[in-house]
Amino acid sequence: MSSENTATSTSDEQQRRERALTDRVIASWAGTSDERLKEILTSLTEHLHAFVRDVRLTEDEWAKGIEFLRAVGDITDDRRQEFILLSDVFGVSMQTVTVSNEAVGNATEATVFGPFFVDDSPEIPQGGDLSNGAPGQPCWIEGTVTDTDGNPVPGARIEIWEADDDGFYDVQYDDDRTAARGHLFADDEGRFRLWGLTPTPYAIPHDGPVGALLEKTGRSPMRPAHLHFMVTAAGKRTLITHIFVRGGDHIDSDAVFGVKDSLITDFVEQEPGTPTPDGRDLGDRSWSRVRFDIVLAPETA
Ligand code: BEZ
Ligand code: FE
Repeated sequence: MSSENTATSTSDEQQRRERALTDRVIASWAGTSDERLKEILTSLTEHLHAFVRDVRLTEDEWAKGIEFLRAVGDITDDRRQEFILLSDVFGVSMQTVTVSNEAVGNATEATVFGPFFVDDSPEIPQGGDLSNGAPGQPCWIEGTVTDTDGNPVPGARIEIWEADDDGFYDVQYDDDRTAARGHLFADDEGRFRLWGLTPTPYAIPHDGPVGALLEKTGRSPMRPAHLHFMVTAAGKRTLITHIFVRGGDHIDSDAVFGVKDSLITDFVEQEPGTPTPDGRDLGDRSWSRVRFDIVLAPETA
């Protein structure tokens, strides 16, 4: 037998062994009574094994990977969700959002939830101000909530949260403050209006293993400026999304891949002294305004 043939048959034997192992592991899930769990475990095994075989993972690299995951676990607690960050920077969070929110007509697109939402935000009256002392340029936010046929959705609950001008959410401070977040309800014609802050870009937490990964791969931890929304209404699919500042820094390099073209919005700068929509006197401060017309998919979508 020529050495070439030997090499080929060794390779065939090697492939047979690798495939046989994958098949044995997949077969081990056969007794899983929960069919969905079985489907997930089977596919996960197939893809994980394919990855190991594809890159010819060495035992040393495997150990480094395990060490990395251990570090991710070590830094994780109630306030620091490093595994979610890991999922975010791999685009897995965003891919899950994309798969879970099927495109329906002109319904507004969803994007990542992020770790900074909190329940029980204060209720803001129509025309109120959610900043509650957070530093930043005032921003007039207005829009409508409709269904995919254009009918208003009165009473829709609109949650909004954002980072302050220093790039931090209230929950990132140690003093229990509540600022730059709140909720209000769409009026009888589905409209809403309130004051917030012009959003600024900020870095995702990057002082842990995920930050080290970004650093090592030459990636930035920055997210482009955005305002978070969660909109809920009876009979409608809950929408979790952001609007992004058109032309803002990092719009093409979001660390968590959350930007969608349809969510890039004009935040229009207003000179100091420009009359405000509700007559609020902002003295010599500039301000901005943005319009976001939200379209909710039916719940069945
Ligand atoms: C956020 O936009 O709040 C966010 C999303 C993913 C990771 C970190 C922050
Ligand atoms: Fe955010």
